[in-house]
This record gives sequence, structure tokens and C-alpha cells, in this order.
Amino acid sequence: MSNTLPSTIFAALKFSLLLTGESHDFTKRIPRKSLGLEKEKLSHIHFYLHDIVSGRNPTSVLVASAPKTNTSAAPFGEILVMDDALNVGPEPSSEQVGRAQGIYAIDSLGEPALLMAFSCVFTEGKYNGSTISILGRNAVFSDVREMPVDDGVFRFARGYAEARTHAFDLNSGNAILYIC
Ligand SMILES: *[C@@H]1O[C@H](CO)[C@@H](O)[C@H](O)[C@H]1NC(C)=O
Ligand SMILES: *[C@@H]1O[C@H](CO)[C@@H](O)[C@H](O)[C@H]1NC(C)=O
Repeated sequence: MSNTLPSTIFAALKFSLLLTGESHDFTKRIPRKSLGLEKEKLSHIHFYLHDIVSGRNPTSVLVASAPKTNTSAAPFGEILVMDDALNVGPEPSSEQVGRAQGIYAIDSLGEPALLMAFSCVFTEGKYNGSTISILGRNAVFSDVREMPVDDGVFRFARGYAEARTHAFDLNSGNAILYIC
């Protein structure tokens, strides 16, 4: 059973890649129009990410650490899973437009920096049900951190996200980030 399972899964996958460039026997050109790509639109999406790690209702939880973690300043080796609120404002009571669901790991021995991999899941307005994936390095004490936007339901979207610390409480560890 365990031997046949991977090939069964593999057989069920159908590869469909969209690339630009030459046509070959196994590829064909498709008009941009057929995908609604004629005109490129530019949207600016901005919101606040509320990362609550302490208190009674944390939205980020520590799932792993290493023996070295407690003796490093960073703290190097921590891995957290988050389901953070995305609000229009820095106030927790402001309107929620989505959630940031994913993981982050403290992966720097020196200045505190995170590797973040998360999806912004929008729940309001015209982006309700759409997601944007963000993957990148977040050097938490830098003024502006730029992270690439991956893909998501915004097909063929390109762009980047800028994260700025709006508030960070050293005692609780809670943070509010402005992402635009
Ligand atoms: C790190 O310190 C915390 C609090 O003192 C403790 O609960 C945890 O077990 C320690 N972790 C390791 C990996 O030593
Ligand atoms: C967002 O979409 C979900 C699922 O389709 C729906 O249940 C919900 O009412 C929508 N919310 C808003 C604010 O449109």
C-alpha cells in the first residue's frame, strides 16, 4: 500500500503551466485576451496585521523551538503559526477585512529577522474569498521590509508587500504591522 500510494497521487496530477515564449509540439500560444490579460490593472491594497502572541486569545502560537533558542537573543529557532486579524486600522476594534494565515520562523542568529510565509485571506468587499501569498524576510527592526507577493487567486498578479512596524510591545511580544 505504502509503495503504491505516491504513484497513485502522481498519476492524478495534471500539469498545466502557463509560460511565455516559443510554441512547440507540447505547447501552444494563447492570446492574452482569452485570459482577460489585455490591460494590466494596478491596485494598492493596504491593511494592518495584528500579531497577538500573548494574553488570553493569542492569534500566533509557538509550535517549536530548539535547545539553542533560549540562549540566543533572536530567539533563533522559534517557529510560530499565525491566524492574525487584518484590519483597516491599527485599532483592534477597526473593521476586519481578512486574516493572515501562515507561519513564521526566527531564522537569524544576529539581528532579529523572520522568514514569513503566509496567505492574506480577504473576507470583505470585492476581494472577499481571494488570497494573496507573501513569502520573504522580515527584519523586524528595519523601518520598511519588502517581501515578494507570490500568487493566489489574483492570477498573474505581480507585486510586493511593504511591512512597517506600527507598534511593538516588548513585554507582551504583540505587534501591529502596517502592510501596503
Ligand atoms: C525555554 O524556556 C522556557 C521558559 O523558561 C521553557 O518553558 C522551555 O522549555 C525552554 N525551551 C527549551 C527548548 O529549553
Ligand atoms: C464573503 O464570502 C462568503 C463566502 O462566499 C460569504 O458567506 C460572506 O457573506 C461574504 N462576506 C461579505 C462581507 O460579502
